Amino acid sequence: MHVLDPSDPAFARDPYPYYARLRAQGPATRVALANGSYAWLVTGYEHTRAVLADPRFSNVPPQAAGRPKPDSPAQRARACLARHMLNSDAPDHTRLRRLASAAFAPRRVNALGPRIEKLADGLVTELAMRLERDGRPVDLVDAFAFPLPVLVIGEVLGVPEDDRDDLRKWTYCVGSPANALPASAVDEAWTRLHAYFTGLIGQKRREPGKDLFSALVHDTAEGGLDDGELLAMAFLLLFAGYETTMNLLASATLLLLTHPGELAAARRDPGRWQAVVEEALRHASPLEATTWRRTTQEVDLGGGTVIPAGASVLGVLAAANRDPAHFPKPDAFRPDRYLPSADGTRAAPHTAFGHGPHFCVGSRLARLEAVVALPLLFDALPGLRLAGDPTDFPYRPGLLVRGPRRLPVRLP
Ligand code: HEM
Repeated sequence: MHVLDPSDPAFARDPYPYYARLRAQGPATRVALANGSYAWLVTGYEHTRAVLADPRFSNVPPQAAGRPKPDSPAQRARACLARHMLNSDAPDHTRLRRLASAAFAPRRVNALGPRIEKLADGLVTELAMRLERDGRPVDLVDAFAFPLPVLVIGEVLGVPEDDRDDLRKWTYCVGSPANALPASAVDEAWTRLHAYFTGLIGQKRREPGKDLFSALVHDTAEGGLDDGELLAMAFLLLFAGYETTMNLLASATLLLLTHPGELAAARRDPGRWQAVVEEALRHASPLEATTWRRTTQEVDLGGGTVIPAGASVLGVLAAANRDPAHFPKPDAFRPDRYLPSADGTRAAPHTAFGHGPHFCVGSRLARLEAVVALPLLFDALPGLRLAGDPTDFPYRPGLLVRGPRRLPVRLP
């Protein structure tokens, strides 16, 4: 049996031919992973959506029930921060989600537009200065795609600006692949994140701000959230919000720099930026696969594919979004798919934000960030170009998130 190694750099850069082969085999394929475990990968558009909407696929991590009692402050912090809605099923999930959706209501998210513009403008100005002053390539992930979502999440959570560097450091530590950093550094980051959010919640209770997180702390509908739930929610928002959006910004920039015709068209007609962002989400889905699902019973997906009870399953969003049955010429980057055609039709909605009950709570915010920040970047730096061969750029290993790790850019 072929063993899939998600840390293989060639797979990380271009997993699409592999997914196309799996899609041709049937609705779901059982795959052996390099870490010795097995996963069922669902790769077609229809089946991915069906699985994500099917309550027989549970989001509760399998160890949760019998997990050994956490016996250190770091493990306790970690266990507490993991009790979030993405790790839960109805009815817990429904309640947590309803409160979060209220905090992320369109009016509240749209009101962040001017702040996002200001934050993006600050980063782009600094990037332009560095490029002009040093005359050397600058990594756009480090200078733009990574800091912007972190700053925006800081706004959402109402984190004072002085604390954002710390938050960024701890989040980076706990999100790094296993064994990449010393265990003591990771443990310390978990403990500090936990302590930081505990303090933040206390502060929001005493002096609510205008941020979305204050709204969650003070929402008493359905009993509101207890402190443990608020802690886990803050952590989820931080985590779900920054690396995904970072990958969207980096991948969209890379796509535009390698498709100058599309960039020129968006510059001529700013009404196209929304379609550019939708097509970047489809073509370079920032979340390659969903979080793990586990079958609570045997599930027959048709076509002779039966997933047994207790199996680990991933909906591969990146593969669903390249399904030729729904997206003609799926490997081409064609923003005009998402412009209304003469007869008013447009491409099928992509699954980059998931589907069903766990559909991304932050999709409006992520789209807003990209639609504000990308034109600003290309307006300020019309001569921006890649410094290097894009086929050499490394991608993050793993099945969960996908995007270039580095994006060296320069001016002519
Ligand atoms: C381009 C950026 C983003 C992408 C591609 C993305 C994608 C996704 C996907 C695919 C899911 C479902 C995962 C699953 O079913 O296992 C999800 C869930 C979620 N996302 Fe996002 N996301 C993005 C940005 C954000 C932002 C900015 C926030 C908030 C600040 C956010 C908050 C959440 C939350 C809270 C959930 C859990 C929803 C639930 O369990 O009901 N996301 N996201």
